Amino acid sequence: MNNIGASSKTQEQRDTLFQVNSAAARLFHDLLLNSPQAEKARQYLGNRGVSSTSVSDFQLGFALPDWQHLKEHLNSQGYQDEFVLETGLLAKSDSGRIYDRFRDKLMIPIFDHKSRVIGFGARTMDDTLPKYINSPDSPTFSKSAALFGINMAVSDIRKSDQAIIVEGYFDVIASHQAGFKNTVASMGTAITESQVNTLRKLTKNIILALDADEAGAEAMARSLPHEAVLGNELKVAVAPAGQDPDDIIRKNPEDWNSLIGEAKPLMEFIIERTSHNYDLKTAGGKSKFSDEILNYIAAIKDPVRKGHYLAELSRKVAIDTAELQYGLNRLKRTSSKASPERVGPAIAANSTSIEDYLLSIYIRHPELRATCQGMKAEFFAGTENREIFKKLNDTSKNADSALVIEDVFRPHYDYLMSIQEPKALLQERLTECALRIEEKYLKSTASNIKTILENLEPDAIEESERCQHRLILINQRLADIFRSKNELLRRSRR
Ligand code: UTP
Ligand code: MN
Repeated sequence: MNNIGASSKTQEQRDTLFQVNSAAARLFHDLLLNSPQAEKARQYLGNRGVSSTSVSDFQLGFALPDWQHLKEHLNSQGYQDEFVLETGLLAKSDSGRIYDRFRDKLMIPIFDHKSRVIGFGARTMDDTLPKYINSPDSPTFSKSAALFGINMAVSDIRKSDQAIIVEGYFDVIASHQAGFKNTVASMGTAITESQVNTLRKLTKNIILALDADEAGAEAMARSLPHEAVLGNELKVAVAPAGQDPDDIIRKNPEDWNSLIGEAKPLMEFIIERTSHNYDLKTAGGKSKFSDEILNYIAAIKDPVRKGHYLAELSRKVAIDTAELQYGLNRLKRTSSKASPERVGPAIAANSTSIEDYLLSIYIRHPELRATCQGMKAEFFAGTENREIFKKLNDTSKNADSALVIEDVFRPHYDYLMSIQEPKALLQERLTECALRIEEKYLKSTASNIKTILENLEPDAIEESERCQHRLILINQRLADIFRSKNELLRRSRR
């Protein structure tokens, strides 16, 4: 844990680096408590409601507005500059001058789970930017792997069987001060896999309480793959806009307690959030929205939860779960999809290109549309193709198809129109494409039905019979398709 770069250092060298950090933390803490120059830091903490117990528990400190103070202090204890430089407490200018990195700052030591000082956060006490500077990554410190407050939180995380992850130093301090001692901070970044790895040894119940602004929501969504590492779903506590845990707790700790109690599964949060970005009253909005959510659902490994969120999405957009399931299958297939530039006039091997190809002819030749009479919108795996096909069939043959296409599908429509069309055997090619698309659809549907059958309760006899019956019909139709394809082949050879 927190030992990136450790391989290049012996354990002894690392221990000495921890000692240097420790000595610095002691000096900063002592200055905060006793130095006249730290008066403004003491006032700052007082104004933020930080108690003297918290100051002592978290070993908060103060770095003097001086370029050499820490350096000289550590030198006097026998620590050489070249060595201290490795901790990041000292820095070296281009001209080779060595100086204290942290000056005139409120110092926040960062401990690991063994209570060793691995690095520091340092806050300005006014409005100058950046608000915080942190220790650079070093043999003892990796900001993305560290969890601020972990040393103070370990036993309460175990006891409560729950960990709360907040964003900032002061969110942790305020939480602990108010009794929420199972709280740690990610220090302003999205949660990383190594942070989840650290916590999962203590609990499987993790609540993310990050800012719910756009960036925060995105950071939370990026945590979804960590659910597999955790072996459980992550939960999300959403604070009212513009307030962080520190603000809420200081106003009323009970409010924070309720927010934590109302934490909801991350996937639910993602569905809810994403739905605000689309107009779910339009076909275009619905399909773009489901495509985005299906991408997340595809990443869920647990089949029960996968099914659960598929059902939830289905309710939200009023689209059949079977159709969404089909969309999921398509995601799997299109991940290996050829890029559009490479789709030539010949029928490409993958289904999406066949669809594009068929549709490009279908649009340009209304007189041939009868050739694919049996073609149904749901046969199309591509959402855009499905919607464009529906639109073409819903409007009169003579209508200018370019005018009836919804804006969201315009780029795809333009792409379809750019596909080079074959000069000969248009009708045969159209027929062949239609057969192949239907075949893919039927095979995928059959496989879904089989999965449903395998998971049916033993007493669901009616449902089981319905499924069996559908499978028989599908197999009959697949046999027809097989014959028709052979027929086409024979004719083309003549
Ligand atoms: P925020 O900007 O949300 O600030 O950063 P905050 O924690 O509410 O800070 P206060 O309350 O104004 O003191 C959240 C966390 O991101 C990291 C810090 O760990 C901070 O606590 N951060 C932020 C940095 O490392 N550097 C920065 O410049 C800003
Ligand atoms: Mn804050």
